Formats: sequence, structure tokens, C-alpha cells
Amino acid sequence: MSFNFKLAPSILSADFSNLQSALDICNKGGAHWIHIDVMDNQFVPNLTIGPPVVKSLRSNTQKFIDVHMMVIEPEKLVEPFAKAGADNITFHIEATDNPEAIIELIKSCGCSAGISIKPLTPISKIYHLLDKLDVVLIMSVEPGFGGQGYLPESDRKIKGIKRYLNENCLDKVLIEVDGGVKLHNAKQIIDNGADVLVAGSEIFKSEDPSQTIKNFYKQIN
Ligand code: DX5
Ligand code: ZN
Repeated sequence: MSFNFKLAPSILSADFSNLQSALDICNKGGAHWIHIDVMDNQFVPNLTIGPPVVKSLRSNTQKFIDVHMMVIEPEKLVEPFAKAGADNITFHIEATDNPEAIIELIKSCGCSAGISIKPLTPISKIYHLLDKLDVVLIMSVEPGFGGQGYLPESDRKIKGIKRYLNENCLDKVLIEVDGGVKLHNAKQIIDNGADVLVAGSEIFKSEDPSQTIKNFYKQIN
């Protein structure tokens, strides 16, 4: 069965004392990607994981590792995450004055490149970069923590970026949506134009996380 969307479980809400169980859940559920939230307690008021953890996850999964860097000076962490085995590396447009150089660096390391924008950042801020990107990550919550509520104004933003990509023959760029994604709003977010959904607490805080992953796919397809 071909899936017209990809689910990227965010391990931020998983049991950090046993990340192998998070990998097992993603495998059993059939998730396409694994979303790794990297926070430096500077760009966002939280501190999570770095390249050594991605390195050990890499040696235990074949899945696409999607690194979301919520950090200042993202250029300093591109090579370490690429070496650790990241497949995609996304940085925040609000964290740099030289996004072109960072995109180039990510690609020179053999990874696909993504830019993330916070809820209050207009999509027009990244129009000029879209032709260089593989992924645009729309934050539907203020970055920093899992378990928040989806910001409804995100719908307009997702539709807007989708329209812009279509009008400019850039539909190869994947739209990823991150924050407050649940089973009850997933279909709407896909209908707005998303290609990849990040879900953390909905999956890892549920009774049966791998079944919840399957339910996302059932819900959408
Ligand atoms: C928030 C992270 C998100 C978060 C998603 O800063 O970027 O990936 O973990 O978690 P939920 O799905 O619980 O909102
Ligand atoms: Zn994220």
C-alpha cells in the first residue's frame, strides 16, 4: 500500500531511559521517519540530546533520521549530526543571518536540508530559499516542549506555503508540520497541504504507541 504522507514520531516524548523501545515502537508501527528534537537551552528554554545519541540510534535503525535543530549557531552542529548519521537536518531561520551557507553545508555533508519557521515568523521570510530546500518545517506550536496544543492559525500558513510551492513549481519541497499533531487533526493538516506529520505525545503517551502510529496511517489513507 502506498502512503501519501509520512509520519515522523518525535522521540522527545519517548522514554529517554530506553530509546531502543522508541525505535521498536516506530518499527512495529511502520513509521517512515524518526524525528529527533535537538534543543540547546539557548534558542529554546529546554535541553535535550546531541550527536552521540543520534549515533547510537543510527546503529539500531534503518529509518530516515530527521534532525530538528532548535539551537543557536546551527552551523556548528551540522557536521557532527551528519557524521552521527542524520538523513535530514533542519535548522531555524530565526537562528542565523546566513541560511544559504548552512543549507550548502548540510548538503555538502550528504544530508537533505530543511528550514523551520516558528509560529510568529511569516512564510515570506523563507520564500527566497525554497528552491534550495528539501523540507520546510512549519512549527504549529512554540518550539521547546512536547504536549502543547496545535495553533489553529497554522492552517493558513500551511495552505499558504503549499500554494506558493505549487505556483512556483517547487512541489518537490516537502512540507513538514510539527507540534500538537493528533489523530483528530491529522487529516485536516494533510488536506491543508502537509506531506510529513511530526507527532510526539499523541504516540508515546498513548496506551499502545505502535497501534497509534498505525491509526495515523489508517486515518489518512
Ligand atoms: C517541539 C518539537 C516537536 C514536539 C512535538 O519543540 O519540535 O517536535 O516534540 O511534540 P507533540 O507532538 O507532543 O506536540
Ligand atoms: Zn520538532
